[in-house]
Amino acid sequence: METQNKIRIAIQTKGRLNEDSIKMLEEAGIYLVKGKRQLVSSAKNFPLEVLFLRDDDIPQTVADGMADIGIVGLNEVMEKKEEVDIIQYLGFSKCRLSLAIPKSESYEDVSYFSGKKIATSYPVILKDFLKEKNIDAEIHEISGSVEIAPGIGLADAIFDIVSSGSTLVSNRLKEVEVVTPSEAVLVATPGLSDEKKALLEEMLFRIESAERAKGKKYILLNAPEEKVEEISNMLPGMKSPTVMPLAEEGWVSLHSVIDENVFWEIIGKLKAAGAQGILSIPIEKMIM
Ligand code: PRP
Ligand code: ZN
Repeated sequence: METQNKIRIAIQTKGRLNEDSIKMLEEAGIYLVKGKRQLVSSAKNFPLEVLFLRDDDIPQTVADGMADIGIVGLNEVMEKKEEVDIIQYLGFSKCRLSLAIPKSESYEDVSYFSGKKIATSYPVILKDFLKEKNIDAEIHEISGSVEIAPGIGLADAIFDIVSSGSTLVSNRLKEVEVVTPSEAVLVATPGLSDEKKALLEEMLFRIESAERAKGKKYILLNAPEEKVEEISNMLPGMKSPTVMPLAEEGWVSLHSVIDENVFWEIIGKLKAAGAQGILSIPIEKMIM
């Protein structure tokens, strides 16, 4: 297999993390050749091979070097304890690993779990947590549909991923302890070759440029010349705003990059200061 001057990434074969991972690559200008059905794919415009895997298999695949890098939930990295380097927290697919019990139960503190049977797909993280809290409980490992375990009498409680919380609600469970937060992380095989490191750097650069542009707007407005200083002070741009003369004497056009939130905060003030023809334009990439 030809792997020279290519980097191979493992991403999740389905679910939220799959969509979010592909979206992140696309925002970074890296487009995959085919849909999710195939096991292997590649990028159209970047020396990238893609392996689609079950999340559970990603840490080991990266630790073994079968894939050079991977995008996976921090929860899986923590659970599998494989040797991978966490290169970057990606800020999407945020969730938490929590303990939940039937809604009808009353709950005071973590001692509730003493002697209880807890169903989970994350026995390692749960075991560490229980040990730290000095709780003696029975861990019942199951690989999927953990949330139905209490309802069918298979367990007293569950330890699982909670995101919106709707899975808990529909199974009449309530979250009582948040054990650890999780989100998508980019992991890499320890000791990547220099060529692969360079490709990884290039990818990270693109990802960061797209990330930086998120929530940022390019603002254009017209203003009377004598108001330039006042208006400039309201625009906390990357550097001072660009000021260009307009055909109409005494008027200029101001350009700047600002946070979308800031835009809504200062729009009233801008107008009061005499700004006109205000335009807000989305930004795709921002290279610093
Ligand atoms: C997780 C988890 C729950 C659900 C929680 O499963 O096991 O079923 O998400 O999300 P919610 O709080 O938004 O309802 P996921 O679909 O990620 O797949 P998994 O079983 O492979 O972990
Ligand atoms: Zn899974």
